[in-house]
Amino acid sequence: YEAAIREMRTRFEILDADLEYRLSRNPIHHIESRIKAPKSVYDKLYRYGVPVTLKSMEENILDIAGMRVIVSYIDDVSALLKVLSLQDDLQIVKVKDYITHPKPNGYRSLHLIVEIPVFFADRMRPMRVEVQIRTIAMDYWASLDHQLRYKKDDMDENYRKEIEMRLKRCADMITATDAEMLDIRKNIYGYRI
Ligand code: GTP
Ligand code: MG
Repeated sequence: YEAAIREMRTRFEILDADLEYRLSRNPIHHIESRIKAPKSVYDKLYRYGVPVTLKSMEENILDIAGMRVIVSYIDDVSALLKVLSLQDDLQIVKVKDYITHPKPNGYRSLHLIVEIPVFFADRMRPMRVEVQIRTIAMDYWASLDHQLRYKKDDMDENYRKEIEMRLKRCADMITATDAEMLDIRKNIYGYRI
C-alpha cells in the first residue's frame, strides 16, 4: 500500500508539472497521504461484520491507502479526473461525486478508488488507493468539521441540530467562495485556463 501511494503521488506530481507548463499555474496545491492504522482496519472489519483476516481486509477495505489531492480551483478537480482517466494502465474502480451531490451535512469532495499496478520483486499486483480530490476551501471545511464531529456526539439533540445547521451554512458559503474565486481567476487570466 505504501508503494501504491508512492506510485500515485508520482502520477499526480507529473500531471501537476505538465499542467503547470501548459497553464502557467499549478492546479495541485498539495498532497496528503496516509496508511490506515491497524486499529482502524480492525474496527472497520468489525463494523462491516466481515471476517478479521488479511484476505477479508484486501477485499472489503478500499481505503487502506488514502490520498488527498488539494487543488486550488473548483475546475481543477474535473481537470485532474479527466487527465487521470486517460491513463490506461490505471483503473478508476469507483467514483463518488460529493461535489455534484454534496452530503446533506454540506461535505464536498470527489472520491475515487483507483487501482494502480505495483511491480514487486516477484510479481505485479494491482493495488487500490482511495483518492479524495478537493479544493483548499473544501479541505478547510472538512478539516474543521472532522475536528468538531467528535464533540457533536455527546451534545444535547437541539444544540447539535443547531450546530449542524451552522456548519451547513458555512459549507454553502464555501461553495459560493469557490465559485467566486474561479470567476476572479477567469477575469484576470481569461477563460482559456
Ligand atoms: P467509510 O469509508 O466507512 O467512511 O464509508 P464510505 O466509503 O461510504 O465513505 P465515503 O466515501 O462517504 O467517505 C469516507 C471518507 O470521506 C472519510 O474517511 C472522510 O475522510 C471523508 N468524509 C466523508 N464524509 C465526511 C464528512 O461528513 N465530513 C468530513 N470531514 N469528512 C468526510
Ligand atoms: Mg471509504
